[in-house]
Amino acid sequence: MSDTYLNLVNNGFTKTLAKRLGLPRPAVLRRHRPGEPLLRGPVLVVHDAASDEAADAVAGQLLEWDVDVHRHADTSEQFSAVVVVLTEVTSPAALGAPLLEVGAMLRGLAPHGRVVTLSRPASGASTATLAAARQGVDGILRSLAKELRAGSTGNGIVLADGVGPTAPSVLGALRFLLSTRSAFVDGQLVQVTSEAGSVPQDWERPLDGTVAVVTGAARGIGAAIARTLARDGATLVVVDVPAAGDALAGVANEVHGSALQLDVTADDAAARILEHVRARHGRLDVVIHNAGILRDKLLVNMKPERWDSVLAVNVTAPLQITEALLDSDALGQAPRIICLASTSGIAGNRGQTNYAASKAGVIGMVQAWAPALTERGGTINAVAPGFIETDMTAKIPFATREVARRLNSLQQGGRPIDVAETIAFLASPQAGGINGETVRVCGQNMVGR
Ligand code: NAI
Repeated sequence: MSDTYLNLVNNGFTKTLAKRLGLPRPAVLRRHRPGEPLLRGPVLVVHDAASDEAADAVAGQLLEWDVDVHRHADTSEQFSAVVVVLTEVTSPAALGAPLLEVGAMLRGLAPHGRVVTLSRPASGASTATLAAARQGVDGILRSLAKELRAGSTGNGIVLADGVGPTAPSVLGALRFLLSTRSAFVDGQLVQVTSEAGSVPQDWERPLDGTVAVVTGAARGIGAAIARTLARDGATLVVVDVPAAGDALAGVANEVHGSALQLDVTADDAAARILEHVRARHGRLDVVIHNAGILRDKLLVNMKPERWDSVLAVNVTAPLQITEALLDSDALGQAPRIICLASTSGIAGNRGQTNYAASKAGVIGMVQAWAPALTERGGTINAVAPGFIETDMTAKIPFATREVARRLNSLQQGGRPIDVAETIAFLASPQAGGINGETVRVCGQNMVGR
């Protein structure tokens, strides 16, 4: 649904009025268009004293992507992005110089700009000083993202010790976070845990030759996922309940895929998916567990059917279907499984004990299955959307909806395409080193981490 306030403060007379009154003016986010350049202007690469080699490697890669790379801040330049390489930082005191350099050029960051940090996890540090320096980057990034304006975002990539700065998933995450594909991803730290994965031959079609199943694909986020995976080269099988059959057929036609009418909670759901993909494609590479429902009530008023149906669709079905797929021989060489979680499953939400149980359950499920997927050369991850403009959120009462929509650093709801872009990234070969993670697509929601 459309966001009337966002439209008013960005157009005509009401834009001028909003400026004069000093009202918050969320920017209309710039989203990806196939064929557009990765960035529209130069990128500044800065680093702490110990991370010079890593910064050279990152700058070299950006040059290979035809990006205009600068190594020193020039206040007369307008930069489209800043990459802050802090992978080898040794003490909290060493963070000041590179960050103050970034601060000095921030006024020259173009609208829709990007700040991306590269760092390492505190959990891998051998001393308290090193852990403090590494964890310090998280604090910087999360705070800086809250200071950026005009549709700009700040995100980080956290490389496990032993993972090099040009590992496939570091490059994949860097490209994703610099691009307009990550328009509604803000204040997040994406963990790269291994050097698995590969860079695609064609960055515009990384899913060429893959077969993908998307559940709940008749509308909303699921339909956007199907369209985005098809755009990136995948062959689609779209799944939804028989009652949504017409809309499902419409999506299947649009993406030149096939439709499978199915309730994901049915006992034979996994068997029917397997039968369908075996008969038509011989195998399955990407599975997106997107089907989901809300049945909100305060726990004091919760009826068993509201509790049970939400748990059944949102977490029990993905558990059973994934288990059956892992037990089968149908999965391809580098399978990708991605589940829809929610920020409610991380931070909790009033009236959503059932929904939050299911979505937190999904986060637990992907963590538990990550090692099994590593053994098969694959990954399993979750995406946790915040407030996304869909039929599901259109049902939220006006006042609650307006508050939920504004309570993030970008001061607006995301769109289904924003969730779909993150899922397409996690489904791609360049995300092979990201496993067991939950990536939030929430504009840096003010609640939760
Ligand atoms: P939606 O209600 O617009 O679409 C959900 C789709 O799933 C519908 O087409 C529905 O028919 C299908 N579905 C429901 N039960 C099914 C079943 N038993 N078997 C097969 N298909 C079934 O929802 P929306 O907003 O597109 O959400 C998609 C996913 O994203 C859900 O898992 C939701 O929990 C999650 N999400 C959405 C957020 C939002 O702000 N819209 C925020 C956080 C998470």
